[in-house]
Amino acid sequence: MNSRETYLLLMSAILAALISINLDFTAYTSPNSILSMLTCRNPISRRHHRHHDFIPKVNICDDFPPDIPPPETNTTVTLCVDHNGCCNFTKVQSAVDAVTDFNQKRTVIWINKGIYYEKVMIPRTKTNITFQGQGLDSTAIVWNDTANSAHGTFFSASVTIYGPNFIAKNISFMNVAPMPKPGDVGAQAVAIRVGGDQAAFWGCGFFGAQDTLHDDRGRHYFKECFIQGSIDFIFGDGLSLYENCQLISIASPVAPGLKTINGAVTAHGRVTADENTGFAFVNCMIGGTGRIWLGRAWRPYSRVIYAYTTMTDIIAPEGWNDFNDPTRDQTIFYGEYKCSGSGANVTLRAPYVKKLNDTEAAPFLTTSFIEGLQWLQPFSS
Ligand SMILES: *[C@@H]1O[C@H](CO)[C@@H](O)[C@H](O)[C@H]1NC(C)=O
Ligand SMILES: *[C@@H]1O[C@H](CO)[C@@H](O)[C@H](O)[C@H]1NC(C)=O
Ligand SMILES: *[C@@H]1O[C@H](CO)[C@@H](O)[C@H](O)[C@H]1NC(C)=O
Ligand SMILES: *[C@@H]1O[C@H](CO)[C@@H](O)[C@H](O)[C@H]1NC(C)=O
Ligand SMILES: *[C@@H]1O[C@H](CO)[C@@H](O)[C@H](O)[C@H]1NC(C)=O
Ligand SMILES: *[C@@H]1O[C@H](CO)[C@@H](O)[C@H](O)[C@H]1NC(C)=O
Ligand SMILES: *[C@@H]1O[C@H](CO)[C@@H](O)[C@H](O)[C@H]1NC(C)=O
Repeated sequence: MNSRETYLLLMSAILAALISINLDFTAYTSPNSILSMLTCRNPISRRHHRHHDFIPKVNICDDFPPDIPPPETNTTVTLCVDHNGCCNFTKVQSAVDAVTDFNQKRTVIWINKGIYYEKVMIPRTKTNITFQGQGLDSTAIVWNDTANSAHGTFFSASVTIYGPNFIAKNISFMNVAPMPKPGDVGAQAVAIRVGGDQAAFWGCGFFGAQDTLHDDRGRHYFKECFIQGSIDFIFGDGLSLYENCQLISIASPVAPGLKTINGAVTAHGRVTADENTGFAFVNCMIGGTGRIWLGRAWRPYSRVIYAYTTMTDIIAPEGWNDFNDPTRDQTIFYGEYKCSGSGANVTLRAPYVKKLNDTEAAPFLTTSFIEGLQWLQPFSS
């Protein structure tokens, strides 16, 4: 099976899973047909209504949680999105548009299970927004722009976050554009661009192929997230900590013995020595298919470390790549610390790779790396 097929299979499996848990998915194209389908299928509601009239009826919103949205409090406003129209909004973007500019209160946008097929933008004026989904396999925002269709990789994101203090919980961000074939130009397809400072993602999914997660700029935190891609699938100039995340490559399988490289987990974009940016991965897991690098030096001062991370043999023995520019060997910072698995054998690593000792690793291991004390709220807040 080639990589494109693998990818499409994966995507359709994910979509099928999402659809099966959410029968009403097609309602956004044809509300009436799904309604009649449900009416015929639902024996309970037929029984329920039999005594009242002969036309079977069902209220599509019967199962909708009665306490959503909760009333406004001193600190929080909740807006609700449901694609069946059971609450305030049917589109995520409409809810975002309704948020008061520069709000100091947190606006929780509660998003019901389902696939929201739309391109979403949170502008700089919309501060303190939370996207609360119902599980990374239940709620997804999906679009399919590519660098070609959007006139640039940076504009291809299904979801773009510029507003500061953004939080996402239990939701997936997907770009379902076709996986690039070897040699394709302009097929980069970003699932999310995180360009606002102080963003936190808890239990979120990021699905795409080339350039899935644009960790663009600002301080960001990712906890227990699932991140899927092929080439440079976490890229940008963010200052970010990833804890307990799964990083899954969908690059094409490479036959044993072949030295082909067909992907990279990261392409960090630190430009100068005085930037404090970098990606730190702690207690993560790297798996999937292909033969890939841990990172490549998209910009001269690219900075990435992996600690306590398990890696399968999809990681090539040299581990990293200087973007074929040896002048970058002096300025990039690529480190590994207490990793495990067959991909973590550092014997044949590129010479510039740092095998960090305790002292050198310490600054990257906790939320102080992203100055979390200044801004990162606990999950439950
Ligand atoms: C919230 O507002 C109410 C009424 O304005 C006030 O009594 C209460 O102390 C406030 N609570 C907090 C946590 O600020
Ligand atoms: C959302 O729905 C709730 C409950 O119906 C209502 O109280 C609230 O005003 C609505 N908010 C908006 C912005 O429409
Ligand atoms: C709202 O955002 C501003 C800056 O954008 C930040 O200073 C403030 O702490 C945030 N408030 C909350 C409640 O998160
Ligand atoms: C996105 O999907 C739509 C509907 O299938 C299709 O018409 C469109 O061409 C796709 N866009 C890209 C860039 O692939
Ligand atoms: C997120 O999902 C997990 C598992 O699906 C659940 O245990 C947790 O309570 C959810 N949390 C939030 C804030 O949605
Ligand atoms: C690490 O790789 C080297 C070189 O391929 C090999 O000799 C060594 O046995 C490996 N170590 C482990 C623990 O697999
Ligand atoms: C760690 O390495 C640094 C050099 O980068 C060295 O100065 C320091 O003594 C080492 N610390 C330990 C605990 O080995």
